[in-house]
Amino acid sequence: MQEFIDHTYDVVVVGAGGAGLRATLGMSAAGLKTACISKVFPTRSHTVAAQGGISAALNNMGDGDDWRHHFYDTIKGSDWLGDQDAIEYMCKNAVAAVVELEHLGVPFSRTKDKKIYQRSFGGHTINKGASMAKRACAAADRTGHAILHTLYQQSLKHQSEFFIEYFVLDLIMDENGHCRGVIAWCLDDGRLHRFSAHIVVLATGGYGRCYFSCTSAHICTGDGNAMILRAGLPLQDMEFIQFHPTGIYGSGCLITEGARGEGGYLVNSEGERFMERYAPHAKDLASRDVVSRAVTIEILEGRGTGPKKDCVDLHLEHLDPALIRERLPGIAETAKIFAKVDVTKDPIPVLPTVHYNMGGIPTNYHGEVLSGKEEIPVPGLMAIGEAACVSVHGANRLGTNSLLDLIVFGRAAAIQAKELIAPNTPHKPFRQSDGEKTIERFEKFRHAKGTRKTSEIRLEMQTIMQNHCAVFRNHELLSAGIEKLKETMKTLEDVQINDRSLIWNTDLLETLELENLLQQSWITIHSALSRTESRGAHARDDYPERNDEQWLQHTLAWLSDTVRTEGRPVHLQPLTNEVEAIPLAKRVY
Ligand code: FUM
Repeated sequence: MQEFIDHTYDVVVVGAGGAGLRATLGMSAAGLKTACISKVFPTRSHTVAAQGGISAALNNMGDGDDWRHHFYDTIKGSDWLGDQDAIEYMCKNAVAAVVELEHLGVPFSRTKDKKIYQRSFGGHTINKGASMAKRACAAADRTGHAILHTLYQQSLKHQSEFFIEYFVLDLIMDENGHCRGVIAWCLDDGRLHRFSAHIVVLATGGYGRCYFSCTSAHICTGDGNAMILRAGLPLQDMEFIQFHPTGIYGSGCLITEGARGEGGYLVNSEGERFMERYAPHAKDLASRDVVSRAVTIEILEGRGTGPKKDCVDLHLEHLDPALIRERLPGIAETAKIFAKVDVTKDPIPVLPTVHYNMGGIPTNYHGEVLSGKEEIPVPGLMAIGEAACVSVHGANRLGTNSLLDLIVFGRAAAIQAKELIAPNTPHKPFRQSDGEKTIERFEKFRHAKGTRKTSEIRLEMQTIMQNHCAVFRNHELLSAGIEKLKETMKTLEDVQINDRSLIWNTDLLETLELENLLQQSWITIHSALSRTESRGAHARDDYPERNDEQWLQHTLAWLSDTVRTEGRPVHLQPLTNEVEAIPLAKRVY
């Protein structure tokens, strides 16, 4: 095996989506020597696909919005599983974060008086649901695209160093449990690199590709989450998988909730606007988990649309075509390509599709990774963005709080890193053995001579997760899923790799990503089995009620044959006395 190429940085950020770039920019601007490693070109990161907006109570539309309304909605949306201190931090910092983005150059859509345009979104309200808020700050329906490009340009301006098309294989942890850096494979020339860093920041995104139908890009394989598991650390709340109610039937491509925010609505085969039955007040703008369950019930009870009655219709044709051209051009194009629908004339066939992972790497609101329920930070290790579980989303995330999470906690991580890294701190040299185990795993796959194709194993895993751990779950379904997944996981030992080279070996890359996905599927389905209640996006038909006495706690889960789980108390107190804690209540829309 070749020698490693070694590098030394103050900070290494893994991932170049919204969170990774906001952290990279902040670290570089603070004078820290910062490298950002990404498996794709930064502007191809999945943040580019975010559509409807980024939330902040700017009150630009004169609806009386305030960050305290945002705070309340986020806690209610999370079904009280979100940590109220972290939620206060996020909502209070939202306004400044969005204004900062505007000043960095994000081309937001504008109101008539040139303010940032804001639209309605699910679960966004004024005064605890008294009326709907317009809180989603939008750049048409391409908000993520606008933010990602701006942040990349700004990172370059601040001389951040990029290692593009490098796949990070593992963390380098020392004998005291400190993170010392990462090992990466350069896809372009096949060389192996070790990066020594005072702080590693995982900003590796979600793992939507565990499922057959998802809005996530093919790159969403949760590589950082899997590195955490292999380092012997836990993941948190992995049972909470968000299904977006309006993925295009067949392809799963996202149709933004902003389409309903602009006046679109859902209809079943009987021509009924069925959301009125499930959420009499918020209707089509109820929280995502509520709408996804309603659509699923409509389909299961035979009121689905289309030849197979397995979707519902999203109507936009009553909207002014000029509004669609100005505010929703992206989804009009996507609907044309993937559903062959002209949205000004016909409805779009849609169904719930995996969209987001509320769970991930447990962190505090400074971005520091936590090692267990004692909440002790792991020295040298941070996580932000969808990879992290701060937890601001709890059991269900509100639309547009994801882009906000990326920006607020990307910035928070940079502030904390500056605090933690004393100038001129020397680097501890790598030990001979650092990275050996990782390379063993890498070489085992590179030379694998089994009989099963990576794509075959992946499809099997995705089908199991789609059928056994979807919108509705129960003991029988989950247990059967675990048995099937166990068999599928074993077959990774029998994987067939045909390309033995080190240069752009996508066969090997996809296999390494598959191992990451399998490990996260394993944790997800076990965490779902262990939580015997319904909360937010975790709907158990054998335990239909929320059970605060037993389950008002986060799930921590460690990788092993059976998966070890432990509870971690939810933070029920805000950070300051600028806002009051939101007491537990029944969640209705
Ligand atoms: O529907 C959407 O535009 C998605 C937004 C989000 O997930 O935050």
